[in-house]
Amino acid sequence: MSTDDERHELLEQRYGKGKAPEGVRWNDQIAGMLRHRSVRAYLPDPLPEGTLETLVAAAQSASTSSNLHQWSVVAVTDPELKAEIAATTRMHSVDRGNPQINEAPLLLLWVADLSRSHAIATEAGDSGDVLEQLDTFLVAATDAALAAQNATVAAESLGLGTVYIGAARNKARELAEMIGLPPLSFVSFGLVVGVPDPERPARIRPRPAQELVLHRERYDTSAWREAADDYEEEFRTFREDVGLGHKTWRESVLMVSSGVEAMDGRQNLGETVRARGFLAG
Ligand SMILES: Cc1cc2nc3c(=O)[nH]c(=O)nc-3n(C[C@H](O)[C@H](O)[C@H](O)COP(=O)(O)O)c2cc1C
Repeated sequence: MSTDDERHELLEQRYGKGKAPEGVRWNDQIAGMLRHRSVRAYLPDPLPEGTLETLVAAAQSASTSSNLHQWSVVAVTDPELKAEIAATTRMHSVDRGNPQINEAPLLLLWVADLSRSHAIATEAGDSGDVLEQLDTFLVAATDAALAAQNATVAAESLGLGTVYIGAARNKARELAEMIGLPPLSFVSFGLVVGVPDPERPARIRPRPAQELVLHRERYDTSAWREAADDYEEEFRTFREDVGLGHKTWRESVLMVSSGVEAMDGRQNLGETVRARGFLAG
């Protein structure tokens, strides 16, 4: 397939037929990113040797606020521990677990981690109280996300599949205890990594038109509405094609925006992170 054909095909899968944005530049790395899809069906195959170290090298190559490295990652491969974690991340609101945690050989738990900075500050006789500020919390959570996304891109470039597990925050306190996290750290999200099962392939999930997220010079408070309406067709077709029940995109936004029951325990995250030393300031 020519480069132009590949670009056209991937952009149409991402945005819908006839909806590809104009002028998108192209290279192998961008093609790899546009091929992204979350993978929820895995072979039991182990990962090739050196994979974890490669993913961590990619993660550590991400920018990190002030070069402070306020993140950590816990690599879980023990099937029993993975099963325990899968059970605690069950999403009761939709009566669905994350069975991919058990199927895939590796679960990476990405930790927003101020514990090292706190140790360095207090050992130097400083109070370390800046670490209790909202901004510091955000810095650590951002660092963890940037590191994880670099690992994701690296894993996909190696032909592996991944899926994030936000449900790792469902029982944040229990999970922190399970993996022995120190104070001033918490699991921000998980990432399953494995060999995708070719018999149960994942599809590229379409995105809304760029107008939903892209603003030029100033924020446009209305442009997203047309993009959102337009997105419903792609959203419906995708759900039909992959055998998911009927739901509009707006309904899916409503489902997670209204009613704390849908949070499956994540409504308690504030309490947990405060108990772990964050956000006292
Ligand atoms: C922070 C974060 C948490 C997520 N948590 C879950 C999860 O707990 N379970 C799951 O199956 N998918 C989870 N996902 C995957 C999203 O559902 C997925 O990225 C989104 O539907 C877009 O689909 P795509 O990644 O295939 O393009 C999560 C994604 C992110 C970024």
